[in-house]
Amino acid sequence: MDLSNIARSAEPSATLSLNALAKQLVADGEEVVSFTVGEPDFDTPENIKQAAIRAIESGYTKYTPASGYPGLREAISGAFSRRNGLDYPPGRILVSNGAKQALYLLMLCVLDPGDQVLLPAPYWPSYADQAKACGAEPVVIDCTSEPGLKLTPRALEASIGPKTRLLIINSPCNPTGMVYGRDELEALAQVAVEHDLWIFADEVYEQLIYDGHSHVSTASLSDEICRRTVTFNAVSKTYAMTGWRIGYAAGPEEVITAAGRLQSNLTSGPNSIAQKAAFEALNGPQETVEEMRLTFDKRRELLVNGLNEIDGIECRKPQGAFYAFPDCSGLLNHQYNGQQVDNSMALSKALLETVRLAAVPGSPFGAEGYLRFSYAVSEEDIEKGLDKLGQFIAMRDAT
Ligand SMILES: Cc1ncc(COP(=O)(O)O)c(C=O)c1O
Repeated sequence: MDLSNIARSAEPSATLSLNALAKQLVADGEEVVSFTVGEPDFDTPENIKQAAIRAIESGYTKYTPASGYPGLREAISGAFSRRNGLDYPPGRILVSNGAKQALYLLMLCVLDPGDQVLLPAPYWPSYADQAKACGAEPVVIDCTSEPGLKLTPRALEASIGPKTRLLIINSPCNPTGMVYGRDELEALAQVAVEHDLWIFADEVYEQLIYDGHSHVSTASLSDEICRRTVTFNAVSKTYAMTGWRIGYAAGPEEVITAAGRLQSNLTSGPNSIAQKAAFEALNGPQETVEEMRLTFDKRRELLVNGLNEIDGIECRKPQGAFYAFPDCSGLLNHQYNGQQVDNSMALSKALLETVRLAAVPGSPFGAEGYLRFSYAVSEEDIEKGLDKLGQFIAMRDAT
């Protein structure tokens, strides 16, 4: 039997084989230092777990309204107002199974087959796959030669065509850790207004910001910008709750209502117990958020300084999230232990095979020559990993 065009065009994750190899090595008893994780390594705070236990014990175990239970949507509305200066009443908020599902549902609501979605590269790979699953075309804007790896209004303008419908802005960015300032966002949003584009502002790392940088929500810039923007966030990264699967989207009522209708038929509302836990995360004590941020900050210093000491690696200091994204092109086009390394995928593979270090290649993020290192790992592992990188460089064959 034939598969649909969309099913056939879905590509397997480029890093899957690498992860499988890393897992196999661990299963074989090898010590692998892995920088591949995309989630905090902390446990979910105790008060949040207790809220979930209370939900189970009190029988809060049935379907909730499809767009999320009213109390949680109120709590999200309050968080948007406190943190982002955004006035999103609960009716303009959709709670989903993680920000990932919210993004896909909202893409389904604004994209028709053949529409184009602008992705400033480096970008989070799921955006491209989700756009394709809507029958739309991801258009990658290469920003790797820009000073902050960030999109400029000029590059944006040059990429817009008659079929362009949506621009995705992810700040703080996975994988670069870069944060867009107010002026930068204003200039980009202005172009989106002129060309009547939707903006998806993915702000899931907004609470993880360092060195006094501050997060600006695109939708807060003006009413005109707010009318074309959907803001995405989640409890996943901020509260070490990736497995609970609660994210949310907020935007114009019409599009959020449409996404709610879709969600009601595709998955129904998200897990009732996790929603109660998310309520506690947003409304309960916030000290753990700052504790985690400070820990990430220390690890960031250690990792980035260590990477920059290695000849052939150049790492911009990430301003947010928990990833370092060094340019490793200086390590390419050499042999290591007899193995030729010409691109980031080959580099990742060689690092794993030779010194048992796992890092994600830049190519799936639209940035050949780069590697992504997560610093959601212990300081001890960061030190071990840096040692391993040094051992790898020492394996370079004289040419
Ligand atoms: C940029 C970005 N957006 C969205 C998500 C999805 O978050 P969630 O786990 O809430 O679905 C991730 C997760 O890695 C991410 O890095």
